[in-house]
Amino acid sequence: MIRVENVSKTFVLHQQNGVRLPVLQNASLEVNRGECVVLHGHSGSGKSTLLRSLYANYLPDEGHIHLRHGNEWVDLVQAPARKVLEVRRQTLGWVSQFLRVIPRVSTLDVVMQPLLDLGVPRDACAAKAAHLLTRLNVPERLWHLAPSTFSGGEQQRVNIARGFIVDYPILLLDEPTASLDSKNSAAVVELIEQAKARGAAIVGIFHDATVRERVADRLHAMGVAS
Ligand SMILES: Nc1ncnc2c1ncn2[C@@H]1O[C@H](COP(=O)(O)OP(=O)(O)O)[C@@H](O)[C@H]1O
Ligand SMILES: [Mg+2]
Repeated sequence: MIRVENVSKTFVLHQQNGVRLPVLQNASLEVNRGECVVLHGHSGSGKSTLLRSLYANYLPDEGHIHLRHGNEWVDLVQAPARKVLEVRRQTLGWVSQFLRVIPRVSTLDVVMQPLLDLGVPRDACAAKAAHLLTRLNVPERLWHLAPSTFSGGEQQRVNIARGFIVDYPILLLDEPTASLDSKNSAAVVELIEQAKARGAAIVGIFHDATVRERVADRLHAMGVAS
């Protein structure tokens, strides 16, 4: 589902005398259907950079990121913006470390939006959103409020529900359990296991060793650049 080939990325800090930070050097990685690969390495080793490149948030300087999109392969490094958006809509799910909340949009709407965008009827979207929010222990009294005032852990669970609302063939997870207690971490582990069982290819970053051991089929060592 994913074929990363020799990806390199150097950040150039133009505001700071053009200092160059080589973060990824010839990173290569393959992920199959139903498999969860965990990026592993010290803080600053480029885990988030690689994950953001897989979401086309960052453009590598070199290399290829081939993703299976329906019946075709798309190279995110070469693809035009409209193709990237199509891949994100249909193929690629993303749970970031922090929820970017939109003011005044209710939790239920935040969670169901990606499924609505695929043309699924609103009732079905709302039902799935409610199901996920329940599984993630987000109290029903919060569903009609905008998540901007929620606690960090509540916002993160809204973020996770949004990431799992579509059965994406590929899922990218950047520390989804970082601000969660053990009960909610366990709920996330279950969602990940279910996604793997339906064939999703997953790339994740998990600091919690218990979570990592439960979900990882393989660790991918980072940090050769540093
Ligand atoms: N947008 C950016 N601009 C400049 N430097 C960045 C940017 N994103 C990440 N970096 C730098 O790249 C290195 C790797 O960061 P990151 O990928 O976030 O590491 P990790 O997720 O493994 O902790 C760090 O030194 C970080 O400061
Ligand atoms: Mg990171």
